[in-house]
Amino acid sequence: PAPTVALTPPMGWNSWNYFAGKVTDKDIRDSADQIVASGMKDAGYIYVNIDDTWEGKRDENGVLHTNEKFPDMKALADYVHSKGLKIGIYSGPGTKTCAGYEGSLGHEEQDAKMYAEWGIDYLKYDLCSFIPDVMHKQAPNDEAAQMRLMHAAYEKMGKALKATGRPIVFSLCQYGWDSPWEWAPALGGNSWRTTGDIEAKWDSMYTILSQQAGLEKYAGPGHWNDPDMLEVGNGKLSLAENRTHFTMWAMLSAPLLAGNDLPHMKPEIKDILTNKEVIALDQDKLGRQASRVYSDGEVDVWLKHLSGGAGAIAILNAGSDRVSTHPFHLSLTRLGLHGPMHAKNLWTGEDVEIRDDMPIEIKSHDVLLLKVAAAK
Ligand code: DGJ
Repeated sequence: PAPTVALTPPMGWNSWNYFAGKVTDKDIRDSADQIVASGMKDAGYIYVNIDDTWEGKRDENGVLHTNEKFPDMKALADYVHSKGLKIGIYSGPGTKTCAGYEGSLGHEEQDAKMYAEWGIDYLKYDLCSFIPDVMHKQAPNDEAAQMRLMHAAYEKMGKALKATGRPIVFSLCQYGWDSPWEWAPALGGNSWRTTGDIEAKWDSMYTILSQQAGLEKYAGPGHWNDPDMLEVGNGKLSLAENRTHFTMWAMLSAPLLAGNDLPHMKPEIKDILTNKEVIALDQDKLGRQASRVYSDGEVDVWLKHLSGGAGAIAILNAGSDRVSTHPFHLSLTRLGLHGPMHAKNLWTGEDVEIRDDMPIEIKSHDVLLLKVAAAK
């Protein structure tokens, strides 16, 4: 069946990367306000997603209640909706979430119905304690059987969400185990994590990026590889590193879920997150994830095909020296292009002419992002 949600990669914000277990109802409201005030909503950021630590206890009827940080989830959902935004929530298939809060095991239909009644639009479903609770217990030492249990757990929640009749984005968070790109779309998964958790550090971001090469054939409208949420504006990432991170997630057709402290966002971070031409690469209607066409020393060259025959080229210097370690020469031939041709630098707005074998200097951990009108 044709997908009805996530026709382009979901965009929004999630509480985990900045607030982690401290997130409150007020943080979610303030973030929703800021998404509107900062222009992020106009740039396409729509989902405001609550991650782990909202859960309280189940009552005698099995109904899960919120904890004291979230006094009234329905009222919060109404507030987020009143801003023209959508709201996401978090759970997992085990007895406990990663942070030790109540999971959905044995209550999948009941929880899904409650999400729908609250008006939830997105669910992130995090494997966590399902590993010891069910996989290790029911199938000790049988990895294939453990994986089948994992698939079944996601299938169960996928069906429960569907049965509510409400369009809810289903985001699988199981750290790339058992090649989810091969089975998650069939279970109704709209995205699946491809790796473990991202951190606000260059090495973490670059390692995850490198692990996406080769996965491009699995992404498309309704079903996306998820290299984890954005760390743009978090930790000690330099401006160039933030720009490179955002550029590459857009090249990857990744979900663009900002994870920074929006009420205290610096203007230069806002400028990165709201660059409309970069966002347009991510949101291109073809939904074709970039491939890493070649690497030359520490310079990686990625190409993304866009609708209308256009293309985007990202040239990234992963080296730690100040400028590309050796004279880097761009090979248009290896990209299947014929120069000279016009290109637009999407970070400076400049028009440039590119030709085969031209020398290009790129600073350490920075990227040159070019859009060309014709890329076969
Ligand atoms: C692990 C996930 O990968 C993170 O993104 C976050 O959801 C935490 N669990 C929450 O406990």
